[in-house]
Amino acid sequence: MAPRQRENWGTRLGIIFAVAGSAVGLGNFLRFPGQVCQNGGGAFMIPYFISFLLLGIPLCWIEWTMGRYGGRYAHGSLPGIFDAVVQRPWAKYAGVLGLFVPLVIFFYYTYVESWCLAYSVFSLLGSYAQIDKPEQMQAFLSAFQGIGSGGKFTSIGVAYGFFLLTFVANMVVIYVGLARGIELLCKIAIPVLLVAGIVLLLRILTLGTPDPNRIDMNITHAYGFMWNPNFSVLTQPKVWLAAAGQVFFTLSVGLGAIMTYASYLRANDDVALSSTTAAGMNELFEVIIGGSIVIPAAYLFLGPEGTLEAARRGTFDLGFVTMPVVLNKIPFGEIFGFYWFFLLFLAGITSSISLLQPLVSFLEDEFGWDRHKAAIAIGIFCFVISHACIFGLGAGVLDEFDFWGGQLAISICALLEVLIFLRYMGIERGWRELHRGADVQWPAWLRYVFVITAVYLGAIIMYWAAFEWLPWIMKPFGYLVTMGLPPHWRAAPVQPAILWTRAGLLLMLLVLLALVRLAWWRRARRAGGAA
Ligand code: TRP
Repeated sequence: MAPRQRENWGTRLGIIFAVAGSAVGLGNFLRFPGQVCQNGGGAFMIPYFISFLLLGIPLCWIEWTMGRYGGRYAHGSLPGIFDAVVQRPWAKYAGVLGLFVPLVIFFYYTYVESWCLAYSVFSLLGSYAQIDKPEQMQAFLSAFQGIGSGGKFTSIGVAYGFFLLTFVANMVVIYVGLARGIELLCKIAIPVLLVAGIVLLLRILTLGTPDPNRIDMNITHAYGFMWNPNFSVLTQPKVWLAAAGQVFFTLSVGLGAIMTYASYLRANDDVALSSTTAAGMNELFEVIIGGSIVIPAAYLFLGPEGTLEAARRGTFDLGFVTMPVVLNKIPFGEIFGFYWFFLLFLAGITSSISLLQPLVSFLEDEFGWDRHKAAIAIGIFCFVISHACIFGLGAGVLDEFDFWGGQLAISICALLEVLIFLRYMGIERGWRELHRGADVQWPAWLRYVFVITAVYLGAIIMYWAAFEWLPWIMKPFGYLVTMGLPPHWRAAPVQPAILWTRAGLLLMLLVLLALVRLAWWRRARRAGGAA
């Protein structure tokens, strides 16, 4: 059978916007400011940029390079790409992580994305306009999510409706295809995001001193609060880990999504400059725009203590509790609220579609399905599993998905990518491959950076495993394990919902492994039959 004609990107800028669209997400607007605030303000930018240069950029280069390489052999997902690079039987199975991780993230990411859509509509309708206290806003959110009774919502119905809308929107983009779906959406969304981001930024900058009784709560102090460097934090390992974690998260590297995008490049399309440009675009959205909205705005209305408290409570609270409260206090808050949540929604959807494409590509390239059939099959599958996150939110199912997919498996997958690149592509060939058809020639000594990336990533993973993963893994077994655990875990009963979630995730991993095996078995049979 002749290899099918694979899709291609329409334009050079199209793929850069698509990759930037994948990278720019809730992480830029919510997670980043929270991290800066908790980790020494402006001083955080030192470990952040070091991680960006040693971890972020090299991983982007690897993903773009190996992705385009895999595309030459008609492979667009990690099993096939690893198989083409490594040429050993085990490699395709290792690549299953590149199907597993994006899927697992997709299940909960789309749900959170749908909250953004819902809140943008709520802002316009003034649904939460009367709420001026974080605790009440929290109750509003919980009631909306169907996990608390807060008056406004008596069931999860509204949230479910918005989820359906968001889900269908994602599927439509995938169904329509690469150039006419993903590329078109990102080419519109990225400029819109930029404009909406700048509008919001200007609004915050011109707020002055909203509370005349608190002249210390002015915009200069607000920026100072976020950005004044506290260099003493630089001696703490946790700050360096947080920086690495943020860079990793924000660039969407480590799960092969960008490889899939790059696999649709032509053999001599530039990757060296495009990959760096897309990463740079993400930094613009993160440091300049993300760094100027949430925290300064919160400071103006909540003051230093309130802001620090909000930052500590994490990404979701900053987005769905603190920001709505703050926006309610500025003139035309409904409009700015709509801007803000619609911006988050757009940032979200350009990311979630990139999580689906690896599986689409897998079914197309390895099973010979057409895009429509693949999109429908994936749609049905994802629709069913998403319900676990929606209805299991209160039981911690979403957090489990995030831990196994978004933290653990993704880190291991990233390390695998670097090691396979180093061992099977090799530094010299990899460097040449990165520069094939390139519009820029990076200095040759930079090619050794990949070794540093591998060591750095390996060290971080070991640290995470010991201090963050192990306690999490043991969480539902608090009752069974008594040695060396803090007392409140010892007393905790076994949590069945968590155990079922883990069993489900394991089952999904096994099914994907079986699919990989089936695909290669069919291919071998076909090749045998043809001979
Ligand atoms: N980069 C996204 C953000 O900043 C989050 C993310 C991490 C992601 N890994 C991903 C999105 C993979 C799409 C694909 O919010």
